[in-house]
Amino acid sequence: MRTRPLKVALLGCGVVGSEVARIMTTHADDLAARIGAPVELAGVAVRRPSKVREGIDPDLITTDATALVKRGDLDVVVEVIGGIEPARTLITTAFEHGASVVSANKALLAQDGAALHAAADEHGKDLYYEAAVAGAIPLIRPLRESLAGDKVNRVLGIVNGTTNFILDKMDSTGAGYQEALDEATALGYAEADPTADVEGFDAAAKAAILAGIAFHTRVRLDDVYREGMTEVTAADFASAKEMGCTIKLLAICERAADGASVTARVHPAMIPLSHPLASVRGAYNAVFVESDAAGQLMFYGPGAGGSPTASAVLGDLVAVCRNRLSGATGPGESAYAALPVSPMGDVVTRYHISLDVADKPGVLAQVATVFAEHGVSIDTVRQQGKDGEASLVVVTHRASDAALTGTVEALRKLDTVRGVASIMRVEGE
Ligand SMILES: NC(=O)c1ccc[n+]([C@@H]2O[C@H](COP(=O)([O-])OP(=O)(O)OC[C@H]3O[C@@H](n4cnc5c(N)ncnc54)[C@H](OP(=O)(O)O)[C@@H]3O)[C@@H](O)[C@H]2O)c1
Repeated sequence: MRTRPLKVALLGCGVVGSEVARIMTTHADDLAARIGAPVELAGVAVRRPSKVREGIDPDLITTDATALVKRGDLDVVVEVIGGIEPARTLITTAFEHGASVVSANKALLAQDGAALHAAADEHGKDLYYEAAVAGAIPLIRPLRESLAGDKVNRVLGIVNGTTNFILDKMDSTGAGYQEALDEATALGYAEADPTADVEGFDAAAKAAILAGIAFHTRVRLDDVYREGMTEVTAADFASAKEMGCTIKLLAICERAADGASVTARVHPAMIPLSHPLASVRGAYNAVFVESDAAGQLMFYGPGAGGSPTASAVLGDLVAVCRNRLSGATGPGESAYAALPVSPMGDVVTRYHISLDVADKPGVLAQVATVFAEHGVSIDTVRQQGKDGEASLVVVTHRASDAALTGTVEALRKLDTVRGVASIMRVEGE
C-alpha cells in the first residue's frame, strides 16, 4: 500500500458533508485498504466557521473555499455545498488545479452537467455524482457502467422522498394534501419551503440526469416536462382506489417506440397496486429500469438523509481515488446518441379524467364524440348522478398528450360539461 495519503477537500459540512467527514475518519483504515492508500482530509470549507463541528480538526475549517480548491496538492474535491454558485466555479477551479471531483449536486448537474463534464475531460479528471440522484441507491453507476452494454428504454421512478411521504400519507389515512404536508414538515421530511419538492423541481433535475445517462443523450432541465403534486386531492385517491391504483409523483424517462427520440417528465400519476413502485412507502425512493437485454430492474432504498447520501459520496470517493492511483479516469459523459428530446405533446400514455356534467340524456354521447373526434379511444366510463348534476369518470386507452389536451379543451367548451375536476395520467401498465 502507498503510504503517501491522497488529499481530499470537503466543500460543505452540513447534513451530507458532516457524515462524509465522520465516515472518512471512522472508516479510515478500511478505506485505505480498499483504495490502496490512506485518505487525508486536507480542508473543510464552510460558511459559518464558528459552528462546532464534532470530530473535525478546527484547523481544517476555512471560509475561503476558492483558496482551498486552488491549493494545487488536492487529489479529490468533494462538493456538498449545493446550489449553482459558488459550487459551479469551485468545481471547475478544482479541475483546473489538478483535482477530481465528487458531487451530490443534482441542481447543478441537471443545469450544467455538459459543461462540467467537458471541464473534467479537458483536464483529464473524474466527475462522479452517484449521490445526486436517489441518495444512497446505486443508480448512476449501474446505468453508466453495468448497463453500458444494454439498451435502456425506460426509467420510471420515485425519486423524491418528501413527496412520496406526503402521497403515501394521503393514500393510507385519507388526509388532504395540506394535512399530509404539515405532518411531513413536523417530522422533518419536508423543508420549511417545500416548493422544490412538491412542485417537482427536485425530481425534474434527477430526471434530466437519469435520462441523459440512460439514453446517451444530453437532456437539460428545461427539456423535462414538470407538474407538481399540490393539486392531488383525497378524491383523486378515492378514484385511484376504485381503479385498483395508487398515486405517485413519478419521474419518467422514455425512448420513443421508434427509438428516434426520448422524453423526460415529472408528474403525479396513477399506477396499479400490482406495480412494484406502488408499494414504495414513506420517504423511500425506487427506480424501475427497463432495458432490451436485462428486462426489468428495480433499485430501492433511502433517497436522502446525511448518512445514506454520504454512503454514495464515499463510494464515489473510493472509485475516484482508485482511478488516481492507477493513473486512469472513469467513464465520462456519454452523449454520442444525441437523440432529440420530444415535447410533452408527443408522450403517449393512458388518462383518467374526472368531469362534472349535467345529468341529462345525451351528455355521455356528446362527451364520447369529443374523445372520438380527437382520436382518443375510451376504455371505461363511470357515471354517478345526483340532483341534476353528475360526475363522469373516463379512462382512456393510450393516446398522445397533445390529443388529450385537445380533447379536454373541447370538453370545456361543451355547455353540458360544468368543469374538468381532474386529469391524471395512468402509468406502469
Ligand atoms: N440532505 C440530503 O438528504 C441530500 C440528499 C441527496 C443530495 N443532497 C445534496 O447534497 C448537497 C448538500 O446538501 P446538504 O443537505 O448537506 O446541505 P446543507 O446541510 O445545507 O449543507 C451545506 C453546507 O455548505 C456550506 N456552505 C454553504 N455555502 C457555502 C459557501 N459559499 N462556501 C463554503 N461552504 C458553504 C454550509 O456551511 P455552514 O455549515 O457553515 O452553513 C454547509 O456546511 C446538495 O447539493 C444537496 O442537493 C442532499
